Amino acid sequence: MVALQPLSKIWMDGALVDWPDARVHVLTHALHYGYAVFEGIRCHTTSRGPAIFRLDEHLDRFLNSAKIYRMKLAYGREELRRACIDLVRANGGVAAYLRPIAFSGYGEMGLDPTRAPVQVAVAMWPWGAYLGEEGQARGVRSLVSSWTRVDSRMLPPQAKCAANYANSALAKMEAVAAGYDEAILLNSAGMVAEGPGENIFRVKNNVVSTPPASSGILRGITRDTVIQFLADEGLLFRRNDFTREELFTSDEVLYTGTAAGITPIREVDGRPIGTGDYPVTRRLQRRYTDAIEGRLPEREAWLTFVR
Ligand SMILES: Cc1ncc(COP(=O)(O)O)c(C=O)c1O
Repeated sequence: MVALQPLSKIWMDGALVDWPDARVHVLTHALHYGYAVFEGIRCHTTSRGPAIFRLDEHLDRFLNSAKIYRMKLAYGREELRRACIDLVRANGGVAAYLRPIAFSGYGEMGLDPTRAPVQVAVAMWPWGAYLGEEGQARGVRSLVSSWTRVDSRMLPPQAKCAANYANSALAKMEAVAAGYDEAILLNSAGMVAEGPGENIFRVKNNVVSTPPASSGILRGITRDTVIQFLADEGLLFRRNDFTREELFTSDEVLYTGTAAGITPIREVDGRPIGTGDYPVTRRLQRRYTDAIEGRLPEREAWLTFVR
């Protein structure tokens, strides 16, 4: 078990507080009913100081998640932007993962969350590659889960709501218990959807594809970044559904996500993927590292410099 490494401050309900003081009551509504929306953002170190990657897009998605759930936040986009920047500064500008979260707080129980007060916080902590440095370098082994991804008739997948992650946790635990690194979830039509916390792409005969938003996925910001890179690199790209067996016969399969970065999948359900040499994934990984670390001048608008 990797212990969370505390930093100095957490932004909570409008102010920076000391890390140990960012507490909630056991009768916090969201703890019981999963009524929380959140984001995952990264701040990287660059030669011009710390920079938050695609902050505005993450905050837009955060506010859209809240809107889908009729959650009224006391802070708008600009205040949340300021909160993230102030927090990174207060924590010494270290490379870290930022977690804005809005949730139904303490004061009312029962299933109508609109009666509970909404609390908002932004925490950050140093977090290495989610699927490990080795996973990012060599590729990970994935299991197609027996759990079906939530779909928009059950829980809207495009809202990053805590409740969705109970479904992710079931899939993740199943994969790990079976000796794999990560899961792949199919949607209720039996087509490939995404990972528990990552989007998925496949490469076949030099054509790159990823399931469309309508397949019941989170519209990943790393997914969008990769789609833009594919255009930059002149690679053929399609948004289309694919099946589990099309994963097995792919030349390359990869996860994308803020936590996982760009991670090759070297095995699905015990079948090795491609030749073990992942040229498209490697190209995308190099470009992504250049973008997040400020070495891609044409993509500098994606960086919010914090110094
Ligand atoms: C279910 C799910 N899919 C995909 C992603 C990837 O999204 P992003 O690239 O915006 O981090 C995430 C991570 O937030 C996720 O939780």
